[in-house]
Amino acid sequence: MKAFIYEKYGPPETLRMAEVDKPAPDADRVLVKVRAASINAADWHVLRGKPLFSRATLGLLRPKHKILGVDIAGQVEAVGSGVTRFKAGDEVFANLLDHGYGGFAEYASVPVDVLSLKPANRSFEEAAAVPMAAVTALQGLGHHGEIQPTHKVLINGASGGVGSFAVQLAKAYGAEVTAVTSTQNLDLVRSLGADHVLDYTTADFVGGGRRYDLILDTVGNRSVRDLRRALAEGGKASVTGFTSVAKLLAVSLRGGRDVAMVQAHVTAKDLELLSELIEAGKVRPQIDRRYRFADLPAAIAYLEQGHARGKVVAEVA
Ligand SMILES: NC(=O)c1ccc[n+]([C@@H]2O[C@H](COP(=O)([O-])OP(=O)(O)OC[C@H]3O[C@@H](n4cnc5c(N)ncnc54)[C@H](OP(=O)(O)O)[C@@H]3O)[C@@H](O)[C@H]2O)c1
Repeated sequence: MKAFIYEKYGPPETLRMAEVDKPAPDADRVLVKVRAASINAADWHVLRGKPLFSRATLGLLRPKHKILGVDIAGQVEAVGSGVTRFKAGDEVFANLLDHGYGGFAEYASVPVDVLSLKPANRSFEEAAAVPMAAVTALQGLGHHGEIQPTHKVLINGASGGVGSFAVQLAKAYGAEVTAVTSTQNLDLVRSLGADHVLDYTTADFVGGGRRYDLILDTVGNRSVRDLRRALAEGGKASVTGFTSVAKLLAVSLRGGRDVAMVQAHVTAKDLELLSELIEAGKVRPQIDRRYRFADLPAAIAYLEQGHARGKVVAEVA
């Protein structure tokens, strides 16, 4: 099968298309013919081996995993002997972050606990856009943030992959949503359902008089002190991304029950919930750009610039 492989850390051009062995599904796994993949920040971080401390787990001198890619959608080609929930031909979507990556390939071997039937009314590309970003939004809002319909919620970075799902999910929970983005994306976040918008080039959500019960910060450019200043009494902030290692350390060391880092772990249960919400029309994947599989390095380079408007996807076959 064809796959994009990388043998040393570096920029997107480090990736090259190669012919590799098709994986065989183990007993508890499913072989998926990948029809589409989406790009995540994790892909370019892992490709570059950055931050440097991540190489302790990714491979000290060279990458342990040869094939990147965490989010996929496709068709079940074959199932392992222990699999009963899926059968050949099922249309599925999955996330491989906790299972050694491998999504940027024509076939992927996927454990059933990170696999679900895809939303029937959405394309493979739309389904591939969902897992990492939407589950991060769901877990940040739900697990840590304990979102309630009465909450005033602020999404920082509302126009990106995680943010575009977070705005819609927070609305689906019935919350009042303020979306922070730049001037050119104000209409986009309004169209996703935001009740209020803030242009970060002209306004600051900290110290502006409004306080929030829940902040989902997908940018990670604020201090813990700033986030606390923007929280209402008893409020919580979930931080999913960081603009520097110093910001990450600050949340780890000075955060607490109120301000916490969210490390998303995709589960089949969360994927099934998202599938239902999408089928019901309550959430819709916002696709920014579509690339051909052969142009995957360009897709990663685009995402790495940090100004995606929703998700970036690649059609695989
Ligand atoms: N912890 C986890 O499990 C997990 C999972 C997924 C992602 N993440 C992390 O979460 C972060 C976001 O991921 P993503 O996929 O949403 O990224 P993305 O798709 O690249 O989106 C980045 C967005 O950030 C916005 N932005 C940039 N600077 C901003 C600012 N100063 N204020 C407000 N918005 C700003 C951009 O909008 P403009 O163009 O308008 O600037 C863009 O829409 C990344 O750091 C990623 O590594 C973590």
